[in-house]
Order: sequence, then structure tokens, then C-alpha cells
Amino acid sequence: MNSTNTNQPLAVVTGGASGIGLSCINRFAKEGYEVLIIDANKEAGESVLKNLKSEGYASNFANCDITKHEQVAGIFEALGNENKSAQVLVNCAGISPGLNALHQYPVEEWHRAIDINLHGTFYACREFLNLAVKNHASEGAIINVASIMGVRASAAQASYAASKHAVVGLTKSIAQDYAHMNIRANAVGPGVIDTPMNTELMKDENIMSFMLGRIPLKRVASADEVANLIYFLGSSEASYITGSYHPVDGGYLAS
Ligand SMILES: NC(=O)c1ccc[n+]([C@@H]2O[C@H](COP(=O)([O-])OP(=O)(O)OC[C@H]3O[C@@H](n4cnc5c(N)ncnc54)[C@H](O)[C@@H]3O)[C@@H](O)[C@H]2O)c1
Repeated sequence: MNSTNTNQPLAVVTGGASGIGLSCINRFAKEGYEVLIIDANKEAGESVLKNLKSEGYASNFANCDITKHEQVAGIFEALGNENKSAQVLVNCAGISPGLNALHQYPVEEWHRAIDINLHGTFYACREFLNLAVKNHASEGAIINVASIMGVRASAAQASYAASKHAVVGLTKSIAQDYAHMNIRANAVGPGVIDTPMNTELMKDENIMSFMLGRIPLKRVASADEVANLIYFLGSSEASYITGSYHPVDGGYLAS
């Protein structure tokens, strides 16, 4: 990670090298933020960074496995050492584990899902807040990407549902604890989004017709449609919104 010195507000996006995170990176950059991509995929992160730089955007990439607390802490410590602050944190790094009945659930896969989707989100929130406290920040916004599975469950997805329900609870707790610093925390609940995470799933006509049958808008969403909501929640337009969960699901949860 190389230092960039701008007076622009900084938006940090975990999982920013692909899918919803990448759409967030592009949106915040276009809206005048300096952006910091945190992602485990070095090749993808470097490629995104190269494109951003070629378009003149203040941007940076930190290659980091979000499940390693010391790596996450190192990134925010480096920001502090450069006298920088971060205004927005978007937690998109996540995985969708394989489908399995609970009595046969591979224990390692359970731990991996909870590690990335929940512990990784905790580490990034912890270090973002730690930096904010050190800097005596007077505002800030965290947007945690949960899922419709953050409030509902579907068959054979226990680790995913457990991790995403926990992310919603974590977000609500942060909203309580940091409201006095005007740091807002909200969770978003995407439905079915056209990202690399769903490339295989979207090839399966049976699954897609079952899913589309349950989505009133009868289509999946683009990653940009999720980034629109995330950008809004990070902006001052959402100044009175904290501690809440916002679906972006084509009406799925309402049906
Ligand atoms: N795509 C959907 O339909 C959908 C629906 C609901 C929720 N979500 C959630 O949205 C978030 C983003 O998903 P997406 O669809 O954009 O997926 P994606 O696979 O396109 O992007 C996920 C990114 O996270 C990164 N990542 C994974 N593990 C990591 C780790 N240990 N450390 C650092 N980075 C890591 C990947 O390298 C990748 O760049 C996830 O939390 C996912 O659960 C997605």
C-alpha cells in the first residue's frame, strides 16, 4: 500500500476487487472520495487499482486476508501513521459456502464462512472505529453487507444465514455504541445479485426459475443497484439513518 495524500474523504471497501465491493469502489471514487480497496485477491485488486489510477482517481489497494486480524489492524495503523482518517467503511468481503444439511456440515467450511463473513467484518469495524476514536472523529459511516439471509433462512445454508444474521446484530450494536460520535452503522440485505459469486448459480435454469418466482420484480439486480443504496447510506443524505437493516431484493422479503 503506497501513501496518497489528498483532502478528499476516504472510503475503505473490503472485498472491493469484485462484485458489489467493486461497484462501491467505482461509485465512491466517482463521487469524489479517495478509495482504499481491501481484498485477498491480489491480481484482481491490482488490476482494479491500475484502472482507477489510469482514470485519475485517488486510490489504493491493500492485499489482505480479512480473517487475519493483524493484517487488518496493520492497514488502519498505517492510515493513522499517515495522519489520515477514514469517513466510510463498507464491508463486502464475503463468501457463499456450499449447501449442506447441518448434521453433515463440514466443520472447516462452517468456520471459514463465520471467519470471513463475521469475524472479518468485526475486525474491519473494530479497526475503523479504533482509528476514528484516536482521531476524535466527529462523523463516519459503516455499511455492512449482510444478505436477505441476514433476516431469513433457506435450506442448507446454515453457516451463511448464521454469519449474516450475526452481521446484522453486530451492526445494530455498533450503532448504539458510536452514535455519540455521529458514526452511523447500517446493514444492507442484497437479494440475488449478478456478481462473480453467482456465476455458477445463474447458469442453473431450475434454481433461477425457482428464485425468480419468489422475486416480485422478476429479475436479479446489478451490483451497481446495491452500490446505489450503500453510497446513499454512507453519504450525509442518510444523516439520520443508523442501526437499521435495508433490503435491496426486488421485493423478496415482502412477498
Ligand atoms: N451476490 C449476491 O447475490 C449477494 C447476495 C447477498 C449478499 N451478498 C454479499 O455481498 C458481499 C459481496 O459479494 P459479491 O457478490 O460481490 O461477491 P464477489 O465474490 O464478487 O466478491 C467478494 C470479494 O470478497 C473478497 N474476499 C473473499 N474472501 C476474502 C478474505 N478472506 N479477505 C479479503 N477479501 C476476501 C473476494 O476476493 C472478492 O473480491 C458478500 O458479503 C456476499 O455475502 C451477495
